[in-house]
Amino acid sequence: MALTVALIGSGAIGSRIAQLLDAGTAPGVQLAGVVPHGDARTGFSFDDAVGVADVVVECAGVAAVAEFGPRTVNAGRDLLVTSIGALCDSSLRDTLLDGGPGRTFLTTGALGGLDAITAACAGGSIHRITVESRKLPATLLQPWMDGETKAALLAATQPVELLRGGPAELIRAFPKSTNVVSALALAAGNWEVVEAVLIADPAAKHTTHHVVAETSLGTFDIRVTNEASPGNPASSALVPHAVVRGLKTLANASGSFI
Ligand SMILES: NC(=O)c1ccc[n+]([C@@H]2O[C@H](COP(=O)([O-])OP(=O)(O)OC[C@H]3O[C@@H](n4cnc5c(N)ncnc54)[C@H](O)[C@@H]3O)[C@@H](O)[C@H]2O)c1
Repeated sequence: MALTVALIGSGAIGSRIAQLLDAGTAPGVQLAGVVPHGDARTGFSFDDAVGVADVVVECAGVAAVAEFGPRTVNAGRDLLVTSIGALCDSSLRDTLLDGGPGRTFLTTGALGGLDAITAACAGGSIHRITVESRKLPATLLQPWMDGETKAALLAATQPVELLRGGPAELIRAFPKSTNVVSALALAAGNWEVVEAVLIADPAAKHTTHHVVAETSLGTFDIRVTNEASPGNPASSALVPHAVVRGLKTLANASGSFI
């Protein structure tokens, strides 16, 4: 029987997932519909989504995880989250990861190596994880920055370190850049061991994440250089494929890395 999927969000990631599923790239996975942003009275609503879907896939942002995540798992449907930064909120985290009856899955998204870190957490201990992310300055402008700060960032000719801290500092200042660091904290099972360094680099042709995880079962040095999403320079082209890979695993795990 097919795994029925509903999407929340049809931006760069959601629209690509819909294309991939409609094109039949994930046998055994069927797209039931996409919940539109805004007027829920027209088209496919969230209630329709939880009525028919085995899995609701969030690709709409941190606020959408808080709005729809608890209702999805409470309705006994599974939830696949792309905006993992939302789980910085410990109360939402408890609801989604420890509640139910629906299950919550997290996409590997733009990152590699989460499998090794999770395994090291299960069988040993995580000493420290650092992640240095480099992005184009224009993708890091924030509403709280004044005009002078924004202009200086856009005019920078050298890399500028914008932040060094844990997930909580990052979500306060750069909420759209918290997915990777939150994913690492969840894989480590510890929100205190991860230190993020965020760099605006005018020479960055790609977004890069350099992760060094020091664990009792080994040191993992992971460098990911992502092509930008054609629909959103702040997003990675890899993410929709990571989501579809996850859905394929849920539908039919034979031959999958799990
Ligand atoms: N885990 C990762 O590695 C990773 C990487 C990149 C992006 N992301 C997450 O994926 C999300 C989507 O990324 P994107 O590049 O597609 O962004 P995007 O801005 O291109 O698209 C987001 C879409 O969601 C819609 N939306 C927002 N709130 C909604 C709601 N309440 N109901 C229905 N639709 C809603 C918007 O209208 C928009 O079309 C980002 O917000 C980010 O948090 C995760």
